Amino acid sequence: EVSARLRKDLLRGLGKHSHHKAPVKMLPTFVRATPDGTEKGDFLALDLGGTNFRVLHVRVEEEAQKVLKMDSQICAIPQEMMLGTGEQLFDHIATCLGDFLESHNLKGQTLPLGFTFSFPCEQLEIDKSILIRWTKGFNCSGVEGKDVVQLLKEAIHRRGDYHIGSVAMVNDTVGTMMSCGYKDQSCEIGMIIGTGTNACYMEEIKNVKRIEGEDGRMCINTEWGGFGDDGCLDDILTEFDVEVDKTSINPGL
Ligand SMILES: *[C@@H]1O[C@H](CO)[C@@H](O)[C@H](O)[C@H]1NC(C)=O
Ligand SMILES: *[C@@H]1O[C@H](CO)[C@@H](O)[C@H](O)[C@H]1NC(C)=O
Repeated sequence: EVSARLRKDLLRGLGKHSHHKAPVKMLPTFVRATPDGTEKGDFLALDLGGTNFRVLHVRVEEEAQKVLKMDSQICAIPQEMMLGTGEQLFDHIATCLGDFLESHNLKGQTLPLGFTFSFPCEQLEIDKSILIRWTKGFNCSGVEGKDVVQLLKEAIHRRGDYHIGSVAMVNDTVGTMMSCGYKDQSCEIGMIIGTGTNACYMEEIKNVKRIEGEDGRMCINTEWGGFGDDGCLDDILTEFDVEVDKTSINPGL
């Protein structure tokens, strides 16, 4: 019964006229393929979602079909910066990335970068994502309603001492799917079970009614943590579920 209801909500989220009100949002990610194992080279990753952010350098090799190298560094974001201007925040990120490139002798290269930005965003392209609102104690001015990829690029441009290649916004579920897909090309689902839960999977574009075009496939970020937010599971909640929900800081969600 639960899987039948989930299936119904997944379809509602994909529908042209139903997705606006759907509790399971089925967000397009603009990722159109999983890795085929021929990828190689050096890549950067930025992971911002809390009071720390991570910078990573990853090297993958075609023949070995594996990650050869992964270096990372963590930079703290001071409290006052979480409440300062967006320019200060992105300048700080660009500085930490610059220091990392410097210390790993990568400053002369122009590497593609994957950007994981764990705040509610409306993604419009693979490299265009608008911050809807800050959460988790952040409140930097001049960022809500703006494209965070653009803000990152502008901060790097202000420094002018290094360049980055193409940027891809990657949700954590999508990153999870892609990283396994590299080893096993039949991997087409990413799932997170942590403080919350979410999943993504590869879908035929013809089934994603809000995306133009019929051909090919796209990874869909289900945001299935929202399943039941409209009360559709209320009749099967136990007294324990009700109690846990009532005493949580986000009752109803
Ligand atoms: C994944 O995408 C959703 C919707 O845009 C967002 O709320 C969430 O913070 C994202 N997570 C990460 C890790 O980027
Ligand atoms: C966040 O910052 C804006 C100004 O940029 C301010 O109006 C608002 O009150 C702040 N919100 C919180 C919760 O501090």
